[in-house]
Amino acid sequence: MAFSPAFLEELNNRNPIEDVVGQYVSLTRRGSNLFGLCPFHGEKTASFSVAPDKGICYCFGCHKGGDVITFIMEIESLSYPDAVRFLAKRAGLEVPEDPRENSQYKKKERLWALCKEAARFFHGQLKTPAAGEVWAYIRKRGLSPSTVTRFGMGFAPNQWTALIDAMTAKGFSKSELLDAGLVLQHKEKGTFYDRFRNRLMFPIIDVRGNVIGFGGRVMDDSTPKYLNSPETLIFNKRKNLFAMNVVKKTKSDCIILTEGYMDAIALHQYGFDCAVASLGTSLTQEHADLLSKYTSQVVLTYDGDAAGQNATQRAIPMLEKTGLKVRILRMQGAKDPDEFLKKFGADRFKLLLEGCENQAEYRLASLQKQFDLSVDEQKVEFARKAAELVSTFTTAVEREIYGIKAAEMAKLTPEAMRLEINKAYKRRINREKKAQEKRDLEIAAARQPKSKEIRYENLRSAMAEESLVQMLQRDPSLFQRTQGLKPEHFSVPMFRTLFENWRSCWREDLPITTTSLGEQLSPAEMAHLSAVLQMSEGPLSEDAFDDCVKIICEEGSETDDLLAMQAKWKKKKSYGGT
Ligand code: UTP
Ligand code: MN
Repeated sequence: MAFSPAFLEELNNRNPIEDVVGQYVSLTRRGSNLFGLCPFHGEKTASFSVAPDKGICYCFGCHKGGDVITFIMEIESLSYPDAVRFLAKRAGLEVPEDPRENSQYKKKERLWALCKEAARFFHGQLKTPAAGEVWAYIRKRGLSPSTVTRFGMGFAPNQWTALIDAMTAKGFSKSELLDAGLVLQHKEKGTFYDRFRNRLMFPIIDVRGNVIGFGGRVMDDSTPKYLNSPETLIFNKRKNLFAMNVVKKTKSDCIILTEGYMDAIALHQYGFDCAVASLGTSLTQEHADLLSKYTSQVVLTYDGDAAGQNATQRAIPMLEKTGLKVRILRMQGAKDPDEFLKKFGADRFKLLLEGCENQAEYRLASLQKQFDLSVDEQKVEFARKAAELVSTFTTAVEREIYGIKAAEMAKLTPEAMRLEINKAYKRRINREKKAQEKRDLEIAAARQPKSKEIRYENLRSAMAEESLVQMLQRDPSLFQRTQGLKPEHFSVPMFRTLFENWRSCWREDLPITTTSLGEQLSPAEMAHLSAVLQMSEGPLSEDAFDDCVKIICEEGSETDDLLAMQAKWKKKKSYGGT
């Protein structure tokens, strides 16, 4: 184990979960627990609960949860050791480092420091006489000096080793420059040279304020137009969005997602302080998760061309999966937001944003494009598909309005369309009702964990194991009554781990917490465990406890027998073979 139990205990004590969570979520007390709006999914009613006495939190809506370390891992997108360091720093604790992990984190810190210095260097180059051309380009793109400062833009001079020289003078090695993606090495000669030359530079900064990479644009028509840092130990394009560090403070009720650095920057300059850009990749699920931590609504402003529209279609389900509301903004007369703002100004963009087509209208319009409505067969097919689509809209008013729209498109009477939609709606409701009944049955019958990663193989035992750990948490003295119980008896691996861990804590007179389990259990297991521990209430009785022990032993011994039989059978077979 990388961190000692004693250290983790101290960490836990110095970071009360309600204080840590309280920095992200505004909490109100209800009974012994505190409640707030879940930071992991968009919601209007508080279903995120914190149990200070148990040191855990859990969302009854999205089923995320865990202890204080898991919470920080999730909300700050950190690994387990980094989350521990984060909390140690918060509480002013010295971290006793494992040498292996230590070197990994130290290396990251070096790369962060290097990228920060490089950003300073590029920014400083704007003050040199060689920066004339880049300033002309900045003016041509309509960027104000304050925008340049706000985004920490810079200039990579037209030289082969300007950055290398400046950074080695500051004590960074060439191999560190290589690891940060800032230099390249000549294949034959082995010499190093700057990756970014003669470019306008955009530092890419993560939500914690670390410079993690760069984008650089040429100032003429040469290619590649944009050069980006490669993936490094600290730079992951799939997880980061340009300008997210600024946008995380926005008061706006939405985040505008653009395709380009320049679009995001132009939007900020024109007063829309909620624009981010993906980093030359298509949107990933990780991006969607990140966005959902900071807003409940995303506005997509991808290009109107086929590629942009495809990207939009791909992005919608990813964003919706996280509970985000999605809107699509389509511009006419300009290819991207940057161009639109320059041509038509901020007021027109604001109008566009306010009246921006919602998902429903957009999907109807894309459907229409797939059919030639002057051909009767296709018209019928369109009407059928449109009815199917409109029938999925939640409110009757929406179904009515978009039904009329669809009828107009297909040049049908609204009545005919309404009939189609009602039929489709009834079919859907029936299907959903059946599915719901099936789900209800399954839940009632199985009481399986919410996470698909965890399955209870033996329900009778699993239910007893749940109750057992709940009771043990509330009254560790019950461990005295577990003599006959062996870890092998447990059917659910996470409860087995918990039992072993707690029993040794109890024997050594240490407090019983989930703190040191984050390493042994998966995030899904931690979340489920928190849910189980959170749910524990009602009177404690020794009889109920003994019943649980009995059931677990019984069920566990049966598998023992089975194993024994299997072993015997195997032995027999091998005798037969010889
Ligand atoms: P675009 O080509 O749409 O550029 O690329 P843009 O944002 O309109 O740029 P300007 O207005 O000409 O300056 C969109 C994004 O795709 C990535 C960059 O992240 C860019 O912001 N890209 C584009 C590259 O990574 N490399 C390229 O060569 C081009
Ligand atoms: Mn552009």
